[in-house]
Amino acid sequence: MEYTKFMSDRVKTMKGSAIREMFKRMADPEIISLAGGNPAAELFPGEELSKIAGKILMTSPTLALQYGTTDGYPAMRECAKKRAEKVNSVTDDDAILIMTGANQGIDLTAKAILNKGDKIVVESPSFIGSLNAFRTYEAQLVGVTVEDDGMSMEGLEEVLKNDSSIKIIYTIPTFQNPTGTTMSLTKRERMVELASKYDVLILEDNPYGDLRFSGEELPTLKSLDKEGRVIYAGSFSKILSPGMRLGYLVAPKALAEKIEVLKQVNDVHTPMLTQLMCVEFMKKYNIDDYIAKNCELYGRKCECMVESMKKYFPEGKVKWVVPEGGIFLWCECPTITDITPIVDRCLEKKVAIVPGSNFAVDMNAPSNMFRLNYSSATLEKIEEGVKRLGEVLSEML
Ligand SMILES: Cc1ncc(COP(=O)(O)O)c(C=O)c1O
Repeated sequence: MEYTKFMSDRVKTMKGSAIREMFKRMADPEIISLAGGNPAAELFPGEELSKIAGKILMTSPTLALQYGTTDGYPAMRECAKKRAEKVNSVTDDDAILIMTGANQGIDLTAKAILNKGDKIVVESPSFIGSLNAFRTYEAQLVGVTVEDDGMSMEGLEEVLKNDSSIKIIYTIPTFQNPTGTTMSLTKRERMVELASKYDVLILEDNPYGDLRFSGEELPTLKSLDKEGRVIYAGSFSKILSPGMRLGYLVAPKALAEKIEVLKQVNDVHTPMLTQLMCVEFMKKYNIDDYIAKNCELYGRKCECMVESMKKYFPEGKVKWVVPEGGIFLWCECPTITDITPIVDRCLEKKVAIVPGSNFAVDMNAPSNMFRLNYSSATLEKIEEGVKRLGEVLSEML
């Protein structure tokens, strides 16, 4: 049976994430994955959460098992507000919506804003989950290069100046996925200025902002914005658990109202059980202590990865920027044009890395870059994985 003819135009040419595809091969226990974006499982508060879940189901089964409200359980909205207020000024003009992961917040924001053919500025490279969300609404992605200190502001102004039809900029300013880079304060201020000058919105995606292990804290774009142009997406995935699927949006009320209707259609509401578990966890424990433990571990893992890269990568053949937080390290091999044969050879050597093309606006163009993740593997596996990768790079570069 031929199914392509039944498919909508919007999905026909879409490609899934190479990372998700790799997950299917990860059943082989000998493969060391430096590919995914998983937080460190060794720190999950499993015991605490299992007790909390048991208590909720014993004492409040109706609340946990019944339908909930679309904008989120009120106490969970308070928890999200607390997290958001740590880095933002949440005003009376903002609404907080609990989302089934930040992913859903990004998807529904795109759905609320983008008509077919509308243009959205994105960092090049950027997070494939968001790029694919924008693609499903048949938006045109306009890529602007990410430099070591964030999106190029000359590039952004050039694009905005020449195209008055652009509605929104999507950015991950802190510990960007995939590059691990952080936008400088000057660029943050400039981006907010440019958004105002050219009358566009900004979707600020900040799932990694809490995971700083070195350098200075920087203000979010939302905190710099005085005109209500920034929609802010936050997540509990990297600070508590991605499997609980908890994220949130802080959005101007007029937009939030529409996004809430879209969420009703999409999944009615985020599961009550995980919302209640998060609320109880935040009541009983200091989540910042838990986050601090994660940061300390990620700092050590990042250092281990960088030291292993220095030790095992062929000298002068690979360029990278050391991140100050988050979970990713981005590498470039300037002497080649296409990393694909190296990625394939790595899989034969049982180490998984993600090719740069996965994060590109044009996924068919060859890329000489790859992304490494240091949060999920153990220190021993990081060193062994980088050693295997180094052997492949030495053989093929
Ligand atoms: C930049 C970025 N935004 C959003 C998400 C999705 O987060 P969530 O698990 O909250 O849906 C991810 C997940 O990897 C991400 O890297």
